[in-house]
Amino acid sequence: MRKNFIIVSSFLLGTMGAISQNSGIKSSVQNVETKVDSVLNLMTLEEKVGQMVQYNGSWDLTGPASEVGNKEKEDRLKKGLVGSMLNVLSIEATEKAQRLNMENSRMKIPLMFGYDVIHGYKTIFPVPLGETASWDLEAAKESARIAALESVAEGVNWTFSPMIDISRDARWGRIMEGSGEDTYLTSKIAVAKIKGYQGEDLSDAKTIAATAKHFAGYGLAEAGRDYNAVHIGKNELHNAVLPPFKAAADAGVATFMNSFNTIDGIPATGSERLQREILKGAWDWQGFVVSDWGSISEMIPHGFARDKVHAAEIAAKAGSDMDMEGGAYEAGLEQLVEEGKIDESIIDEAVRRILRVKFKMGLFDDPYRYMDAELAASVPFEDHKNTARDIAKKSIVLLKNENDLLPIKSSVKKIAVIGPLADDKDTPIGNWRAQGETNSAVSVLEGLKNADLDAEITYSKGVTLGEGERSFLMPLKINETDRSGIPDAVAKAKEADLVVMALGEDAFQSGEGRSQANIGLAGLQLELLKEIREVNKNIVLVLINGRPLEITWSSENIPAIVEAWQLGSESGNAIADVLTGKYNPSGKLPVSFPRAVGQEPLYYNRMNTGRPSNDLHVTYSHYTDIENGPLFPFGFGLSYTTFDYGDVELSSKELQAGEGITLSVPLTNSGDIKGKEVVQLYIHDLVASVARPIKELKGFELVELAPGETKNVEFTIDEKMLEFFNASDKWEAEEGEFELMVGGNSEDLKTIKFNYVK
Ligand code: NOJ
Repeated sequence: MRKNFIIVSSFLLGTMGAISQNSGIKSSVQNVETKVDSVLNLMTLEEKVGQMVQYNGSWDLTGPASEVGNKEKEDRLKKGLVGSMLNVLSIEATEKAQRLNMENSRMKIPLMFGYDVIHGYKTIFPVPLGETASWDLEAAKESARIAALESVAEGVNWTFSPMIDISRDARWGRIMEGSGEDTYLTSKIAVAKIKGYQGEDLSDAKTIAATAKHFAGYGLAEAGRDYNAVHIGKNELHNAVLPPFKAAADAGVATFMNSFNTIDGIPATGSERLQREILKGAWDWQGFVVSDWGSISEMIPHGFARDKVHAAEIAAKAGSDMDMEGGAYEAGLEQLVEEGKIDESIIDEAVRRILRVKFKMGLFDDPYRYMDAELAASVPFEDHKNTARDIAKKSIVLLKNENDLLPIKSSVKKIAVIGPLADDKDTPIGNWRAQGETNSAVSVLEGLKNADLDAEITYSKGVTLGEGERSFLMPLKINETDRSGIPDAVAKAKEADLVVMALGEDAFQSGEGRSQANIGLAGLQLELLKEIREVNKNIVLVLINGRPLEITWSSENIPAIVEAWQLGSESGNAIADVLTGKYNPSGKLPVSFPRAVGQEPLYYNRMNTGRPSNDLHVTYSHYTDIENGPLFPFGFGLSYTTFDYGDVELSSKELQAGEGITLSVPLTNSGDIKGKEVVQLYIHDLVASVARPIKELKGFELVELAPGETKNVEFTIDEKMLEFFNASDKWEAEEGEFELMVGGNSEDLKTIKFNYVK
């Protein structure tokens, strides 16, 4: 491969005389700009527009296919009229496409190869919502580093991840793909993920370019219906939605992806305000924006563009740099420049950004650098499995554990493992599974058998979740009628000391285009659970799901509930680690669990109403037919030990501008085993120029304590923490009184007040 590169490289040098090529020496930041300009100066308009075009490799569709056929794509590759491809996998396939481009085109600008590497490439980690429940930034970074390594081993050098859309609605299927409802936590995870994918230096061939998506507002689609309109104003946009993107931009994320939705009537893809003024202007971010799949042309059905040419004009002017499988840019941009409707400087700016990323990735040094068979052969998949198990167990949230039913006691001699997901080796792989193999996860049943418990283990499926084929493009057909397996499950439960029920969602029930009006246990699952409870009340309910579920009946009637998400390749082993007590659960919910679907959207960092009292005669922010508040709040999760929070102290009750004060709280492990607690800090700005949420997460720390041990946990409070986008459209801290709240979830908190003075 190296030899071939040398041939190509000398050709490249011949063509681009102005570029100084120092093969093997990393391109320094300063001379990247000179190199970019040198290339750009030599390009024709047609070639420039070509860089702004991205094509799908055809076999792994994640959206409607464009009208461009394979033959035409090949021809365009040969002419150097494609900037990047997506869904082209394997060293052979990426090398083939790169060669078509490098060996035939005039400018020989290397292609990038993008793919949705969302929670692992081959080794699959918990779905992002699940992994966020670990609140473990090192874990989030490490799974991204591993995903990057496995991706480059197959020629993929760009992931469309992390998805950092704030989502507050469990009906939205893509809630599984992000970090939940909180802006601060999402920002922290975003940065960890980007560092994991991109490493310290993008030119390291074991790293891949990351994408912050979807810019912006996509997670707040009306009523959780995918692709739908978003109705938010300035306050919500700047204070809730944009901060994770700002954090991603500051962390040097290589690319952004815009989004399908409209915000206040303007499609995000065509939003000059978002892309040009905020991202590229105020934030001075230097990477490039790729559209979402066909989102440029989708401005036509939105009623914002007349046709593809018009859509291309709007998107390019707004700052969308690359058209993903949409066909608008190649249809329109050249013509628009020639007719004088778009200034060529707009095209130059987009291409400059694309070339800059390619230079930073070292693609101009060696276009084949990500197609390294030696590296591919050395990927330590066994080690990756161990890490996947470690991260999966940290992502599990213990929601209920009445009478310490868990961990499983040595007196338990017979365990019935029941449920449609109990021996399911596929569902834990989840949606957006990249190259995670079908049926490759460790099931709950297998995990418990691997655990070498001194107990007999029996199994019965009870009911199926659904029938037939299902995939990314097709949801499972849910079983509503076949109860034939229930008697066997009931018989097994009757004989057992303990029942482990594995229920939840199919892998393809959450994800893109998987919004649901109902978020309970689908099909006959609740019926099965009720029948089992009739004969055995010692039930541990293990939930395997991508979105928060409505589990109100279970929370009232089942003694132990474990939220195990879709945990990836090592799912069953990780679940067994928690059920047996080998690992003391430490996860906390990154999203509120509702009592009823009608509460959605539901999130802890809401605004107060003008009538916040509990008095039923006033309009209160609740419904009259259910108890107020979530079933399980944001930040909630139990442990097999207990943690006591002592008195909160502040080093001063006054914070002066430019200074800091310290909050401290003693935390004691009051149980008798070692455990980890996520200590959470929330802030409330009591009076401000725009109403502020009743509390907002502003800090957290994972603290591990031995039994009986006490640690003083400290947070420094400074004015940065108090800043928000205010009535003067500025990020500022405003003078006045603030509440600080500390505790183990967003509801059980100790409060202390202070004043901020300027
Ligand atoms: C559409 C999705 O919205 C986006 O997140 C994904 O990266 C692209 N398709 C490519 O598959």
